[in-house]
Amino acid sequence: MKLLVTGGAGYIGSHFLESFIDSESGHDSKIWVIDDLSGGHSEFIDVLRIQAKKRGVAEFHFDKRSLLEEEFVTRLVKDVNPDVVFHFAGKISVGESVKKPDLYFNNNVKTAKILLSALEHTQCRQFVFSSTAAVYQPSFDQQPLREEFPLGPSNPYGENKLQVENMLEHAAKQWGLGVVVFRYFNAAGASPSGRFGEWHEPETHLIPLLLAKYDETDKFKVFGSDYSTRDGTCVRDYIHVSDLASAHVKAVQYLKACKSGFEIFNLGTNRGVTVLEMLNAASVAVGRKIPFDVVARREGDPAVLVASAEKAQKILGWEPKHSELNHILMTADRWMKTLAAIQKR
Ligand code: UFG
Repeated sequence: MKLLVTGGAGYIGSHFLESFIDSESGHDSKIWVIDDLSGGHSEFIDVLRIQAKKRGVAEFHFDKRSLLEEEFVTRLVKDVNPDVVFHFAGKISVGESVKKPDLYFNNNVKTAKILLSALEHTQCRQFVFSSTAAVYQPSFDQQPLREEFPLGPSNPYGENKLQVENMLEHAAKQWGLGVVVFRYFNAAGASPSGRFGEWHEPETHLIPLLLAKYDETDKFKVFGSDYSTRDGTCVRDYIHVSDLASAHVKAVQYLKACKSGFEIFNLGTNRGVTVLEMLNAASVAVGRKIPFDVVARREGDPAVLVASAEKAQKILGWEPKHSELNHILMTADRWMKTLAAIQKR
């Protein structure tokens, strides 16, 4: 099997590749990774390359290029003629997307358009797309969210992802592309191997920020405590990144069997955790108090996002196996220590 993986040096992409290489399908496969390293890390590629060699992957290629380089992407896609594309690449911060909508449009929508146009004239008929819970309408108060619930993103990041979902649905209808869209809820934790984890610069996500060191002069900031939730802070559904990775491995088997069509799956746990609950759990996990201040809401944050992942369970036979809060926090904390050592080198 020939795989083209965009954003394979990033947080979720690298965890997927680690799982895929270790899976039965990984052996003998040929893998091309494209990542501009604006959010990904060459250190992950180095580790994956070694793992690929050990596990009998037939070919492993990496190009540090941007998906905005249309000529390059078109040529690469034509030359590789992949069986399946995993499209992880993209900008991922809700807050930043509100401040820089054009940057987000270019990196999330224009890139997908370039990739799809390049694919249309190849044999590739399988595409797996990383979408988000941010596509749902935040004012819709029925939770957990099911895939058919009303859409209406409250920030440019969610809007971008929805635009790409729509483009993919057209491609599925018009030229028979087989598409799996995964709407991730809050990706969290790190590989138990200790080799990969969350590494964003700057870091904006709750768990890695909670695990940093705070004191009375530099406190953790809780963004808003006046939401209509059980303790006033936002509720999210934290799903371990290894569980996200395993869903992608299942998508390969699913697409092979069904060949065409367009399916969307939520990937979450059905469990909502507030910011303060996570703060308390993190404090217990690391054995120290986390001093905090409540500050203003962060623009674009919906109050509650919790997944119903029933469809993924039924159709893909997928279920979260690593998303227990303590495991998420312990693996994230272990990774943070590895990351600190990498950054010191
Ligand atoms: N938060 C704080 N303080 C911080 C950082 C975060 O209170 O310093 C809060 C946020 O306001 C939010 C929650 O912690 O309520 C989680 O925030 P994250 O930034 O970790 O994650 P988001 O929910 O904003 O976004 C993440 C992904 C998106 C995805 C979304 C779907 O980054 O890609 O989950 O739920 F769309």
